[in-house]
Amino acid sequence: MNIAVFASGGGSNFQALLDRKSAGDLPAVTFTLVVGNNSKSQVFERARRGAVETFHIAPSHFDSDVEYTQKLLSRLEEKSIDLIVLAGYMKKIPVELTQQYKNRIINIHPALLPAFGGKGMYGMNVHKAVLEFGTKITGITVHSIDEEYDRGYILYQSAVEVKADDDADTLANRVLRTEHDSYWRVVKALSEGRVKITNDGVIGSV
Ligand code: GRF
Repeated sequence: MNIAVFASGGGSNFQALLDRKSAGDLPAVTFTLVVGNNSKSQVFERARRGAVETFHIAPSHFDSDVEYTQKLLSRLEEKSIDLIVLAGYMKKIPVELTQQYKNRIINIHPALLPAFGGKGMYGMNVHKAVLEFGTKITGITVHSIDEEYDRGYILYQSAVEVKADDDADTLANRVLRTEHDSYWRVVKALSEGRVKITNDGVIGSV
């Protein structure tokens, strides 16, 4: 399975996936391409170190969305990408991409969807909202992507305790560790055909 990882920031989730690959836990997976919109993001450095090809592309480089989308799509096709793994990707996914890669795009979200999802719910905003609301449990969600933000089918969730003395940073760190221990499991199950995303839902379980 050829995978393109899309990331904008630190890329620690990508790193965790690469480490699993190196450890032999993802035998059916090839990390073919890392796509990012921010040339300075650490994910590119991680990709270079892991000998994974990088593709820097940002909507602002193009005169129109159509040109941007075409360029992105043609690179993914050229590389025979089977699955797109979003790992902290901050740009909107063009509708054409969600159509072309229907049931073949997954995302990880640092909360238990459908709680603490949707517009504005990214990064530290999520953890601050969890603390403000006072939930005792948060977690991570891996889900498929359709045209709407943070929508699609849930493939996997894992709960994380919110501790009484947590601030947004301590909570974010605990959630991130759980992300690192979760995403590869979903990627593995998909790559081995144990889980399938269909138009009507998810078949199998991680
Ligand atoms: C993670 O918290 C993920 O859930 C969210 O973006 C963050 C990416 O972190 N979608 P990193 O770049 O993988 O370190």
